[in-house]
Amino acid sequence: MRVKPSAFSGPLHLRELYGKCFTKTDDSYKYEFCPFFNVTQHEQSLRWNPYSGVLGVWQEWEVHNNTLRAMVLREGDTCGDRFRTVRVILKCGNKSEVTNVTEPHTCDYQLVFHTPLVCHPHALLVYPSLNTSLQEEWDLIEGRLLNEELTKQGYEKSIRRLFERAGLYMSEAKRVEQKKKIIAKEEHDDELETGDFHSLEKCSKQDVKKMFFHYPDSWFEAITSNTKFYSLAAIFDTRIIGIIVSEVKRRFKCNREDADILASSFPLSTEVAYILSLGVVETFRRCGIASLLLNSLLSYLLSADQNNCKAIYLHVLTTNVSAIRFYERQSFKQHSFLPYYYSIHASPHDAYCYVLYINGGQPPWTFTDYMKHIGDSLARLQPCLLPQRLLLTAQKVWRRVITGTIAPKPPPVHHS
Ligand SMILES: CC(C)(COP(=O)(O)OP(=O)(O)OC[C@H]1O[C@@H](n2cnc3c(N)ncnc32)[C@H](O)[C@@H]1OP(=O)(O)O)[C@@H](O)C(=O)NCCC(=O)NCCS
Repeated sequence: MRVKPSAFSGPLHLRELYGKCFTKTDDSYKYEFCPFFNVTQHEQSLRWNPYSGVLGVWQEWEVHNNTLRAMVLREGDTCGDRFRTVRVILKCGNKSEVTNVTEPHTCDYQLVFHTPLVCHPHALLVYPSLNTSLQEEWDLIEGRLLNEELTKQGYEKSIRRLFERAGLYMSEAKRVEQKKKIIAKEEHDDELETGDFHSLEKCSKQDVKKMFFHYPDSWFEAITSNTKFYSLAAIFDTRIIGIIVSEVKRRFKCNREDADILASSFPLSTEVAYILSLGVVETFRRCGIASLLLNSLLSYLLSADQNNCKAIYLHVLTTNVSAIRFYERQSFKQHSFLPYYYSIHASPHDAYCYVLYINGGQPPWTFTDYMKHIGDSLARLQPCLLPQRLLLTAQKVWRRVITGTIAPKPPPVHHS
């Protein structure tokens, strides 16, 4: 979480909810609401990098007409140039449960929480929830308003300060302090992320053991939020040092130049995985990181529910020797040469398409394959052995004649 949750505040009978969590699952997401703590969202997807993040951290109450209208949870995960927020509306219900989650504006969520704890008509009134001294202070403010010692504006300011002291609203001082902490943390994270990898010592294979792989909260929003992409990052000491991004698609969705990756006997609905990006920070290369990332992709694609994916393919510049060596070491085979495939700084560059067949996938037959097939079929007939077989049969017959097994026909008898 980017910030710490505020302390518990509001009517004491709601303390019963503190430390508990309530979930709601729909087709795509599981939401978890932990009152006075946070709201999280977990994508219900079989892909290996489902979104899992914080939608908001408990901050303060929204008060309207001296009634607690909603719990406000802010400072969730990044969403473009802002942060996700949630409003939780409390409603009377037979049991405590999250009944509805919506996103009225992008990255601003609204959650409806039913609970028997708010069924009493006074359950969410502010005044009864305050301690005696704050109640007395409120009485005084009301009196000053009645006596016209306070303007409407002055009254609202005084009430706001009172709510801050009651912990219902976040105080301006706390808001500023929190902002400072966030900025300091972000600057620290930036330093780590943009840190000069070249100044690091060259990695060793031992370092890889210290590494872990995960899906950073705000990492490449577009890639991670789109279910058709499968992406994974290698992290070392909070730094992203390697990534792999792949897309699984039906073979008919392939570009024309890649349409012949699979033999035509595979239906158009057969899937293939395209590696859009694989890269490792320079000082961490040759430590097996790309191999680990690729192996993770492979183990996913070889799982039972990905059995329809028959090939993994990619394009690589013909001049990118490291990548070519890498893929060849991983048993990828060169499938085609693509002249002028890339345009880099307005100049054309050739590429190769490399493919690895998985789950029984096969490339289309080439002329050599057809010739080999004809050769194999002929070899099964064994035409070269025909004269030898004829000779053996003739020898057998002759031996029988000699040994008398087959008696020669008696000469015809002539009667005079
Ligand atoms: C290609 C790339 C991803 C490889 O990453 P990596 O983490 O260094 O790869 P690995 O350590 O897992 O290498 C595994 C094997 O691939 C081969 N290999 C990798 N880089 C190689 C190189 N520069 N020269 C020769 N072989 C190489 C080796 O056989 C290596 O095993 P070894 O180190 O035991 O000899 C990396 O060089 C890179 O990020 N390049 C720039 C981005 C890029 O070109 N991406 C590919 C676009 S299609």
